Amino acid sequence: MTSEPSSFRFHHPSRLRRSVLTVPAINERALQKVTGLDCDAVIFDLEDSVAEDRKADARHMLLEFLENTDLGHRERIVRINAADTPHFRDDMALVLKALPDTVLLPKVEEPVTVQDMAESLGEHAAADGLRIWAMIETPRGVLNAAAISSSGRTSNSRLDAFVVGLNDLRKATGIPPEPGRTYLVPYLMQVMLAARAYGLDVIDSVSNDFRDLEAFAAECAQGKAMGFDGKMLIHPAQIEAANHHFGPNEAAIAEARLVADTFADPAHAGLNVINIDGRMIERLHAEEATRLLAKVALIDARKDKP
Ligand code: COA
Ligand code: MG
Repeated sequence: MTSEPSSFRFHHPSRLRRSVLTVPAINERALQKVTGLDCDAVIFDLEDSVAEDRKADARHMLLEFLENTDLGHRERIVRINAADTPHFRDDMALVLKALPDTVLLPKVEEPVTVQDMAESLGEHAAADGLRIWAMIETPRGVLNAAAISSSGRTSNSRLDAFVVGLNDLRKATGIPPEPGRTYLVPYLMQVMLAARAYGLDVIDSVSNDFRDLEAFAAECAQGKAMGFDGKMLIHPAQIEAANHHFGPNEAAIAEARLVADTFADPAHAGLNVINIDGRMIERLHAEEATRLLAKVALIDARKDKP
């Protein structure tokens, strides 16, 4: 087995995942809205937001929608029902037919769940680009996050991101909702570290209270401070704050330009450590700066497009 270079996260192509909006596949009115929304990604949900007796209708509606809609820059993610439900087989058929960018697995607790999905996609010759994301939303999922992340890397690299689900985790643990998420932070950070250990992106949980945008902004700032790439959203009103807080701010962009330019200066060729205004800057900071600037370029490239 070859070992991964310690900084391989920075070789991972940059992708914008600041705002990941979930839409119940059964809600036709909401489906029709998404092409007008400035989110980076859309999760079309067949799981928790669709009632048991509406699953078939939802699949039907979603397939037709995906086959006839150009979502532009938005990453197309389908959240399916788990393998031990009666809906799994039909959900998989939809995935193989609609070929979204990503399939999102709910309530992942064991590495084998991700491996089985990777195998299944491979058997059906799904494009190598079809990625897997895993929801980490149960106590066992949190405890096994590192094993899940590690196995996803070695199976065939389809595993690309974790999404934390706090509604299920609150229910299972008994931790009540509360501003600041004090007692949930250790779990959030555990999932974050497990994701980063194997180069995955990691998306913060939904906030249920979509009318309280002040509380939402605070939670976005907290998620950003914890290192998350973005946030799963339930309502269009949450998109702007997520894009703002999880996007690079002016100060970070200026710093990244300074670091990248300074390292690119021929006078510093061959140096791994340099002094910028009394601060030690290492070559690893230049890699980080390059990654951030790649995201800025993605945001800029989008500005003129619908
Ligand atoms: N995606 C796209 N459009 C959405 C949307 C979403 N997630 N949520 C709401 N909208 C639309 C509504 O259809 C409505 O459109 P309209 O004005 O044309 O009727 C508009 O935004 C305003 O919606 P609002 O009246 O404020 O809320 P609502 O009562 O229609 O919907 C929820 C509230 C919570 C039911 C809805 O936002 C939702 O289903 N969110 C996703 C839930 C989900 O996926 N949960 C599972 C994962 S945690
Ligand atoms: Mg859930």
